[in-house]
Amino acid sequence: MNLNLGFLASHDGSNVKAIMESIEQGRLRASPKVIISNNPNSGVLELAKNKNIPHYCLNEKNFPQKYKSLDLAIIKTLQEHQVNLVVLAGYMKKVGSQLLEAYHNRILNIHPSLLPKHGGKGLYGLKVHQAVLDYGDTEAGVTIHLANQEYDQGRILAQAKIKVLPNDTADSLASRVLKLEHALYSQTLIEIQTNRLDLDNYVNIM
Ligand code: GRF
Repeated sequence: MNLNLGFLASHDGSNVKAIMESIEQGRLRASPKVIISNNPNSGVLELAKNKNIPHYCLNEKNFPQKYKSLDLAIIKTLQEHQVNLVVLAGYMKKVGSQLLEAYHNRILNIHPSLLPKHGGKGLYGLKVHQAVLDYGDTEAGVTIHLANQEYDQGRILAQAKIKVLPNDTADSLASRVLKLEHALYSQTLIEIQTNRLDLDNYVNIM
């Protein structure tokens, strides 16, 4: 599959950066077409500038009025840049129904826990890792799934696990899990690009 990637991110964009590095190192064959952030101060927009990737800040306050909704503005922006796979990478907004329809089975999300545990509305960032510790889980990890109309509930495509260490804090766990995110996102995109992972039928023959 020929991957034209569109990224949606709200924060530093370390996941986007890691995927870009996989492309630059020749491990992942994909073309980063556009980066969209809802956050005008996000590190991911800085990253886009440094990498000369078309980038837009689109949110409920500033989307061009010629589009009836933010959802439509995002869809049009993605389509104008020939995007065929949307990568949510630390994107804190819910994906709208029109975007889900326009990119059916073509929107990936990453969540820093072993879903279905510790997912859903309000569980993001350090809150996820604190929940892992509060529940006394012995394992933590990362999930990549297809986005749907609910937070963190789409079909699971890939997971990776690590042990929770006795002296782990939410911060120490977050930083180890984030490294796992970086590895798993690129690996999952490689499997999609090499047709080992079929997003429509989800046959993962690994
Ligand atoms: C992190 O909490 C990460 O676990 C989640 O989104 C947040 C920001 O990630 N995926 P990034 O550094 O902006 O990719």
